[in-house]
Amino acid sequence: MQRFMNNQKDLLSWYMLNKRDLPWRNTQDPYLIWLSEIILQQTRVAQGLPYFKKFVEKFPHVELLANAPQDEVLKLWQGLGYYSRARNMHKTAQKIVNDFEGIFPGNYKSLLKLTGIGPYTAAAIASFAYDEPVAVLDGNVFRVLARFFNLSESIQTNEAKKIFTQLANHFLNITQPALHNQAMMELGALVCTPYNPNCSACPLQNNCQSLHIGNQASLPVKTKKVVVKNRYLAYFHFDCLGELAIFKRSDKGIWQDLYDLPYLESDKKLQKSDWLLNASELNWVKSDESIVLLFEKKHVLTHLNIYAQFFYVKKVIKPVLNLQESWLPQNKVAKLGVSRLLELYFEKFNLKSKSIL
Ligand code: ADE
Repeated sequence: MQRFMNNQKDLLSWYMLNKRDLPWRNTQDPYLIWLSEIILQQTRVAQGLPYFKKFVEKFPHVELLANAPQDEVLKLWQGLGYYSRARNMHKTAQKIVNDFEGIFPGNYKSLLKLTGIGPYTAAAIASFAYDEPVAVLDGNVFRVLARFFNLSESIQTNEAKKIFTQLANHFLNITQPALHNQAMMELGALVCTPYNPNCSACPLQNNCQSLHIGNQASLPVKTKKVVVKNRYLAYFHFDCLGELAIFKRSDKGIWQDLYDLPYLESDKKLQKSDWLLNASELNWVKSDESIVLLFEKKHVLTHLNIYAQFFYVKKVIKPVLNLQESWLPQNKVAKLGVSRLLELYFEKFNLKSKSIL
């Protein structure tokens, strides 16, 4: 829009001088851009970079990702959390290969139809790869816009999302949409930060309404409180002659398709004796066995606090397992995709060794 031409120019000049050199910024390959954006929805740039490099090294083309076993994809994703993103990415790679001959849909509207690609990712791919003039809106851009236009609507409402989307598209530099979008995100990441924004270094400072009023700290407005649930888990590491009991989760929860140790769950805090009572009722443990509480961890996710306790049970004779469980040599656990919580347990006790007691 003509009205914002000077702001757009100032923003681009600032970006060209201050941008970080990031690998996904040196490509117009929609596959690599997609990969980077899915990873970056999950984590910050510094933590996301090694994941991006690993994925590109292992799966440089969408065909290779599509043809990989799901376990391998989940293993590479391990530690990023939100595993449904990895599962969706894998599914979508297969769709692109099977239905579109490996060629990404070429515009915003058709990208939106793919599983796991919402308005943000579709706008990022369409603008970065195809120079389509469509504005991206992620957390950083919401913040920049909320302050620049002094918008006090809660950014979690659908109404506000519509208003922000319209404004973002009015503000978009349609002759250089890719650079403009990158610049908005970079400004939010480096200057217009949630706390203590560096307004004196901002290329938009002369027209920023929030800076003029002095209410930067209270924008953007978020009204919805995150409801946090507590879950209490008791994991059982059954070690029988160097093998442990493990299963692949099939439930639709956050850890679907990852491997896990047998566990018990409660919605309240339990003592070791309570857990063991439940475990013995299931014939998981016997009174004469050595059972050691080896590790306790509070694992914090956005909507969930998980209080986990890991019990190590040395078995001399293999008990019968549930149908979906199996025995695995402990030195093989490194190959399995597991939750960050289980990874921490395995790391802590270096389960590549045969036995730990
Ligand atoms: N966060 C999300 N997308 C990004 C990108 N393309 N560059 C830097 N940070 C990002």
